[in-house]
Formats: sequence, C-alpha cells, structure tokens
Amino acid sequence: MIKAIDFFCGAGGLTRGLLNAGISVLAGVDNDERLQQTYTHNNAPSRFIASDINDIEIAMLREELGILRQDLTLYAACTPCQPFSTLNRQKGKDKRKILLLDFAKIVEKCPPDFILVENVPGLNNAYGREIYKEFLSVLRRCGFSEAAGLLDAKSFGVPQTRKRFILLASRHGTISLPIPQTYANQMSTVRACIEKYPAIADGEAPKAHPNHVARKLQPHHKRIVAAIPKNGGSRRDVADTSILLPCLSICLYF
Ligand SMILES: C[S@@+](CC[C@H](N)C(=O)[O-])C[C@H]1O[C@@H](n2cnc3c(N)ncnc32)[C@H](O)[C@@H]1O
Repeated sequence: MIKAIDFFCGAGGLTRGLLNAGISVLAGVDNDERLQQTYTHNNAPSRFIASDINDIEIAMLREELGILRQDLTLYAACTPCQPFSTLNRQKGKDKRKILLLDFAKIVEKCPPDFILVENVPGLNNAYGREIYKEFLSVLRRCGFSEAAGLLDAKSFGVPQTRKRFILLASRHGTISLPIPQTYANQMSTVRACIEKYPAIADGEAPKAHPNHVARKLQPHHKRIVAAIPKNGGSRRDVADTSILLPCLSICLYF
C-alpha cells in the first residue's frame, strides 16, 4: 500500500479522496490549525500536523510517521491557488506563489516515489509558468517523469464543471493521467446526487441529514423562484416583469 503525506491539506478533501482510493494517508500538513478538527473528524486516523511547510524536517517527519526505506510513498501538494487565479488582481505580488518551490525543497531532501499536484489552470499559463518550470526542473533532477494537464471534475463523476491542472509524477518510469469519461450518460447530475434527500421547505434543517439545509427566503425571493420555469428558462420567460431588475426589463424590448 502507498503511504502518503498530504502537504497543504486544508480541511482534508484531497486526503479523503486518497483514502477512498486505497492510499494510506498518514498525515496532512497545514499552517492553519483551525482546520484540525474537520480534518481529523473526516479522516482519522490520518494525523493533522499544524505547521508551516518551511518548518517541516522531512526526514524526521517520515521517521515519526513510521515510513520505512522500502515503503512506497506519495507526497500530495495542493498549494494555495489564489496566486495563479484569474480572479486575484494582486497575484503578481502574492507571496504564496513560491510555496510550490518550498514543497520542491522537501522533495529534493527526501524524494517520494510519487507526487500529486493539483491547482487552478493558471499554474501552467502566464500567471504561474515560471514557478511551474522551476518546479519541473527539480522533479527531473530527482529522477521523476511526469504527466500533467487539465482535467474536468465533470468527467470523473462530479456534477460540476471544474477544470483543474493536475500533475502526477513518478520515479518508477512513465505515468499517465486518468482518462476522462467521455460519454454524456456516464456524467453525474446534481439531481442524481441530491434526490435521495427529502424535500424540505425554506428555513428547514432536518437533523437526520447533516448539511441538508435550505436558507430562509424572503417573500420577494419566493416570488422570483415561483416565476422561474422548471428548466431554468431565460429572462424572456418571466411573465411577471416586476421581479426583473429595471435594466433587464428594458432589455426585453430590444
Ligand atoms: C488549496 S488549500 C488546500 C485544499 C486541500 N487540498 C483540500 O483538499 O481541502 C491550500 C492550503 O494551504 C495552506 N497553507 C498556506 N500556506 C501554507 C504554508 N506556508 N504552510 C503550510 N500550509 C499552508 C492553507 O492554510 C490552505 O489550507
């Protein structure tokens, strides 16, 4: 079994996915200690290590986690995506850009067998390419070969269009990215995922289903919801034009 450390583990979404895939995630590392409770609640016995990546002594950490020389190991690193995101106007100055290279130092000191990196598409375009190229050169120096590209969550059973840049690297020969499911009938829908839950009115939060909560709606919100056709329609389908913003109701006449 592969033993993993999830660097920049956050509240543990990736750790959960790796565990579900049969990988033994021994620990997650994150410098935000507020995430510990959620991380361990969802992923125990994986340990949460509250630490800045730059304070990690990787050889000591591996020993502490009981990783032996002959074990197959994976390091995952989903560094903060804001420095590479189109939405961040300060990205040029965002110091978190270099966290991928901080992670590279850990790789250089004690290379694992496999690496998984996930980030926004901007990591490999104008916003992040310099950092990414430097990261790749470290990997190659350490004997890794890699496969990298954009994958869309909707092609892997998630009812959401969400394109992410994924890199898989291996020190055991070539490696490839998973093949997207290409047929529409294999794609999951929001309905398929949530229809098992009971219908609830606005403002309800039945205890039997954690996170199954409907926000309280104001009367004018309810009028808007009632006016929207079941298939979503377009604003031209709204008979009650009084619910449209003034600029939109004017547009209807052009
Ligand atoms: C994109 S999130 C990770 C999401 C996570 N992979 C998941 O599946 O939920 C990036 C994380 O990096 C952490 N982080 C930022 N700077 C860090 C640093 N210097 N050392 C360790 N963690 C850091 C943040 O607290 C944040 O939780």
